[in-house]
Amino acid sequence: MGAEVVIEGLTKSFGRQNIWRDVSLTLPPGEVSALLGPSGTGKSVFLKSMIGLLKPERGRCVVNGVDIVTCSERKLYETRKLFGVLFQDGALFGSMTLFDNVAFPLREHTKKSETEIRRIVLEKLDLTGLAGAEKKLPGEISGGMRKRAGLARALVLDPEIILVDEPDSGLDPVRTTYISQLFIDVNAQIDATFLIVTHNINLARTVPDNLGMLFRKELVMFGPREVLLTSEEPVVKQFLGGRMDGPIGMSEEKDSAQIAAERAMFEAGHHAGGVEDVTGIPAQMQPTPGVPTRQGAIRRKDRVMKILHTLPPAAQEGIIASLTPEEQRRYGVTPRRSVVTVGRHTTSPAEDTAILPARGELG
Ligand SMILES: Nc1ncnc2c1ncn2[C@@H]1O[C@H](COP(=O)(O)OP(=O)(O)OP(=O)(O)O)[C@@H](O)[C@H]1O
Ligand SMILES: [Mg+2]
Repeated sequence: MGAEVVIEGLTKSFGRQNIWRDVSLTLPPGEVSALLGPSGTGKSVFLKSMIGLLKPERGRCVVNGVDIVTCSERKLYETRKLFGVLFQDGALFGSMTLFDNVAFPLREHTKKSETEIRRIVLEKLDLTGLAGAEKKLPGEISGGMRKRAGLARALVLDPEIILVDEPDSGLDPVRTTYISQLFIDVNAQIDATFLIVTHNINLARTVPDNLGMLFRKELVMFGPREVLLTSEEPVVKQFLGGRMDGPIGMSEEKDSAQIAAERAMFEAGHHAGGVEDVTGIPAQMQPTPGVPTRQGAIRRKDRVMKILHTLPPAAQEGIIASLTPEEQRRYGVTPRRSVVTVGRHTTSPAEDTAILPARGELG
């Protein structure tokens, strides 16, 4: 099983510029999580802090009992082997072939024979759709292929934790979906803990188990995907819809006067941009037929059902609706009957979702 990552009160500044403060979240072992946020909110800085490339001035990031922020260089070197990282720019060595790039961590961190290394490298290149390209240099292939080569290299040590920074940048929409499918399949095969940083709304809505968002130097939310996808927070709705109407501006975040002035403009008929209908909770991508079941998804179901009563009503409803009738019986929940919204008063979460006590509690 992948490792759990517990982050508590993490705060990072460069000189006097604070990037984010007091970020706390837990990446559940073997689950896929994604982090959203406007450009420049410090998502890449967050990933780099998680592997000790940058030093936050406060807080902890604990993996297998080791706090990455304060541990010794030797412990850090050891713990880093648990991570596979796909950097935003792929970060391949320009003068090395794809084969040597992907083989690099194996030669650096293991004592494996060249025969064994060859077997592993070719397997990972095949997995990422790069079979036959092993002799190419990074400069001779497309941006999307470089991204996939970076991913092959991130996977080569069978990491327990996989961090991916904007896997879709430079990829066409179809290739983005293929790479999303690859994440789900790799997660099913090796049960690694994933954190994907992305701007891609399709990917964010259909791939991860958990979703979070950085905005205005803080973690706005982090939790089961259903919470963010049904959120009424203006910043979340604006981000998912890709619209100009809302608190996120072109450069810095807007102030309330600017938001009000723009709102008047949009209400007077100016197009706020964005085309997708992004309401509701779309189905989550599943492993390709023939690939094992995701153990992380099974554990997640139990985990989320335990905290169900703490979640907002719309998220509860979405989670219950995603269960099969058999699972609904097992967890002792029933979906809300056909919703009559006309003239209906706001109801409490309990009324809203008709959560029945779990069977054990019925005694
Ligand atoms: N090494 C550094 N030294 C000083 N400032 C830095 C450093 N790295 C990043 N920053 C600053 O931290 C802020 C966050 O940068 P970061 O790259 O994490 O943003 P991001 O959310 O990943 O954006 P994007 O979505 O565009 O990739 C930026 O203002 C950037 O200038
Ligand atoms: Mg970035």
